[in-house]
Amino acid sequence: MKILSIETSCDDTSVALIEGNGDNVTLLKEAHASQIDVHKIYGGIVPEVAARKHTEVMSLLLAEVFEKQNPPDAIAVTAGPGLLTSLLVGVETAKTLSSLTNIPLIRTNHMEGHIYANWIEQEHDIQFPALALIVSGGHTELVLMSSHTTYKKIGETVDDAAGEAFDKVGKFIGLTYPGGPKISKHAEQGNPDTIKLPRPMIDSDNLNFSFSGLKTAAKLYIEKNPDLNIADFSASLEQAIVDVLVSKTLRAIAEHNPKTVVLGGGVAANKKLRATLTEKIDPLPETTFIAPHIPYCMDNAAMIGSAAYFKAQKDGYTDWKDITADPVWELPK
Ligand code: KG4
Ligand code: ZN
Repeated sequence: MKILSIETSCDDTSVALIEGNGDNVTLLKEAHASQIDVHKIYGGIVPEVAARKHTEVMSLLLAEVFEKQNPPDAIAVTAGPGLLTSLLVGVETAKTLSSLTNIPLIRTNHMEGHIYANWIEQEHDIQFPALALIVSGGHTELVLMSSHTTYKKIGETVDDAAGEAFDKVGKFIGLTYPGGPKISKHAEQGNPDTIKLPRPMIDSDNLNFSFSGLKTAAKLYIEKNPDLNIADFSASLEQAIVDVLVSKTLRAIAEHNPKTVVLGGGVAANKKLRATLTEKIDPLPETTFIAPHIPYCMDNAAMIGSAAYFKAQKDGYTDWKDITADPVWELPK
């Protein structure tokens, strides 16, 4: 089954053509436009600018991927969560295409896309129950899956997301948006034990996260130490974030006994996080750890196509007339 997928929830415009076969998804074609160069001037994403940029490139990207002679079996689009004006560009494009071609539509959640990035060109078997740790710029969540496309959110951040903490602290030390990848690069040269930063909620008796206190502690440290060593500071911040993410994941494994743990979201590209989860989960006799290939961690349409492929197996189609964008579409608790 071939699916054309569209992702515009934030600042990446992405169109992909994927093919699903059994339990595997392959990327056939992709066209992508990043807006980072525009948003870094403002130090973060400006929603109005993001939507305009999506509009400017959408038809060009679609023309690269859509094959009129060889149309896809379905069209998938991210309908939420995300920035409303950005989502609308993708949703209205998908509706128009579906109404003109009669190709059925699959309304897809951005977070399920991050989870299903793990099924793209994956050489390992993913077995259920599975536990997903999703860590992005807007979300930090633990989601339990009893079978394909069946979700139960069992933990989430009570304030900032992990990626947001990386980006905001990055801004305090003068790094351009997004700070996450830059902090992680600096961290490779630093010692994570030099600066004591808090690990909020690490011992709390639940699966929730909090990163706002860490952000404030990091800000205070920067103000008191203007000549800080950026590598040591980055390594210490990264270690604090990774410690909390890994500790809560291990707690969730102990409570729910998943057969597989999958990782997703932009922060899933972080080497330290991937290495630590591998190191802690690999020795567990009944649980396997899997992370998406790096290109499928950050926002991309292939992951949306992948999720849609598995939704299609359960008849997860929506008539184009009924498709709306939902900026606060959460996975069920
Ligand atoms: O999933 P994503 O592309 O967009 C959202 O849905 O939010 O995630 C973007 C986030 C940003 O906060 C970015 O700083 C973070 O992912 N990120 C990283 C790394 N690469 C991207 N954070 C830490 N280490 C990285 N290597
Ligand atoms: Zn994302």
